[in-house]
Amino acid sequence: MVRVVCQAQQTASAPGKQFNPLLMGAVEALFKFPPFFNAAAKNARGMIIKRAESLGLDWEGAMRDLKAQDWEARMKAVSNPAVQYPSYYTQPFHAYPSGNLCWEAALEVTMAAKSVHAIVMDPAGKQMDPEGDARLRSSYSARLGECLAELGVDPSGVSRIVDLGCATGLSSLELLRAFPSAAVTGVDLSPHFLAVGKYEQERRVAANGGAPEALTLVHGAAEATGLPAGSVDLVSMCLVCHELPQAATKDIMREAFRILRPGGVLCIMEMNPQSAVFQRIFGNPFAYTAFKSTEPWLQEYITLDMPGSMREAGFARVTQRESTPRHKTVVALKQ
Ligand SMILES: C[S@@+](CC[C@H](N)C(=O)[O-])C[C@H]1O[C@@H](n2cnc3c(N)ncnc32)[C@H](O)[C@@H]1O
Repeated sequence: MVRVVCQAQQTASAPGKQFNPLLMGAVEALFKFPPFFNAAAKNARGMIIKRAESLGLDWEGAMRDLKAQDWEARMKAVSNPAVQYPSYYTQPFHAYPSGNLCWEAALEVTMAAKSVHAIVMDPAGKQMDPEGDARLRSSYSARLGECLAELGVDPSGVSRIVDLGCATGLSSLELLRAFPSAAVTGVDLSPHFLAVGKYEQERRVAANGGAPEALTLVHGAAEATGLPAGSVDLVSMCLVCHELPQAATKDIMREAFRILRPGGVLCIMEMNPQSAVFQRIFGNPFAYTAFKSTEPWLQEYITLDMPGSMREAGFARVTQRESTPRHKTVVALKQ
């Protein structure tokens, strides 16, 4: 059963309230010390691979197959040389020293998503489900549908979608499933992710007898998409805000507001810092340290007032739902 967590107005004072600032400050300081960061990141990556293998996923085999491509040529074909990388982006993420700008991150992302999300449906975070990633994504679509109904938005009027921070397109494909008659434009700053995404798209199209897919992957910054004002019905950001400092999230919300038509919606699926699961993690030095080792902007994210920032960006109404015991779906309407 779906539980309405709260209306946006009621959440505005909540961010950061129950976190342990001393613990977070200490962990932040430790991560400025490279040997500590390197050891914690190595440990976190080892855990992700180990869990993937325990789910029966052939990590090494999949990597071998994927690596047999001319990736540099593929990257050249998708790159926009005018793109500039903000300094918050050129950081280590997810235990990769070059963050999202490396082949390992791009080639491993589908397996890593299956591994990391295997436990998300279990409130205790213990029971592993090989379908956890798929369930997380379909629950986003389901909750999004409920939020649209609440805001009086007709889903049949959604034909132009932009997926900001699409990576290889896992979230874009879920949007195509949820809105089968829509066209999706995926925007990402990483040419590595986009090159792998295009390769996977070519394979899907070939497997479907050449039937084209309504997904276009574009190299660019979500803060400045270059899309015309008022040209989009729905903007989605799936699992992106936790990789951003607050200022960048707010810039992106303003860009989403600009490109949406009146009556359009900004939809965000993200970790829910107010959930009991995350409150438990944030109160535990070991769990928080492991988490922080893969996410440089975690503290900025968990203290972000998301509905308040959406309203600041110009959105008139904001509503939200719990999409898993640790994720939320937040939808804002441009009037
Ligand atoms: C955790 S991944 C989520 C990918 C995908 N949406 C999903 O649900 O699997 C975050 C993605 O956001 C991208 N990203 C981060 N900051 C960005 C920005 N300012 N503009 C465009 N993409 C960005 C990263 O390159 C990465 O691919």
